[in-house]
Amino acid sequence: MEIIEAVDEVKARLRPLGRQGLRIGFVPTMGALHDGHLSLVEEARRRADVVVASIFVNPKQFGPNEDLDRYPRDLAGDADKLARAGCDLVFAPTPQVVYPDGFQTLVRLDRTTGGLCGDHRPGHFDGVTTVVLCLFEILRPDVAVFGEKDYQQLAVIRAMARDLHLDVSIVGAPIVREADGLAMSSRNVYLSDEERSRALALHRALFAARDRRSTTKDPRELLETARGVLEAARITPEYLELRDAETLANVDDARDETVMLVAARIGATRLIDNVRLRP
Ligand code: PAF
Repeated sequence: MEIIEAVDEVKARLRPLGRQGLRIGFVPTMGALHDGHLSLVEEARRRADVVVASIFVNPKQFGPNEDLDRYPRDLAGDADKLARAGCDLVFAPTPQVVYPDGFQTLVRLDRTTGGLCGDHRPGHFDGVTTVVLCLFEILRPDVAVFGEKDYQQLAVIRAMARDLHLDVSIVGAPIVREADGLAMSSRNVYLSDEERSRALALHRALFAARDRRSTTKDPRELLETARGVLEAARITPEYLELRDAETLANVDDARDETVMLVAARIGATRLIDNVRLRP
């Protein structure tokens, strides 16, 4: 598996494959890979002939008080995992390669970036859409796979691809959980043992609401069920919301498919999780 850092080199490697009619599958990552990321590679493998992953800790999507400097980095370990998962090529540029001197473009969406994480991480999604559009143009994938754990991010990327008529199909892949239910995340390594066991309340709260849905479709009751589980674990969420699963609009009832989303700080670590409430 090749690891390429330069834009010209990765284009020279991929463009001929596209011309030969081979389908390119793309998995964008910030490294610190876990089994959730590897499931995205497997999904891309099923849908494409050549699988490319990017490893790039994108400075533009971190706020001034966020964890850019301490974000876990392990290129050699990540490359090893990607090779074993069936990835063909890794694009691992430096910030200077993606954002050379004079870079001034910002890709910014309305609506889908508002609320939820958008309200708590100002500018975050502008950084995500800016880098993802750069990566799409550099790699020109036919299909790109994103994890559903970042549910709002997936909705934002889908909206961008639709609005800009991009020739890439966006695929969402299910959340991968640890054996005890904690959603896999590169940030889980920050948790102490005590924090990690408290963090289990996140998915338990969501699953309790999902179970409750068989008896009520009232969002207030569903949210109350989830909030009760969080309170018992002394967790005050940044947000806990029920939204339409497709549009992320607010809902009056949970009759159609909805998604319950939560974000909370466990100690200094910000975690997110979500679960679909299906009819
Ligand atoms: O989900 C992530 O890891 C990042 O937001 C992404 C999509 C790789 C863009 O930097």
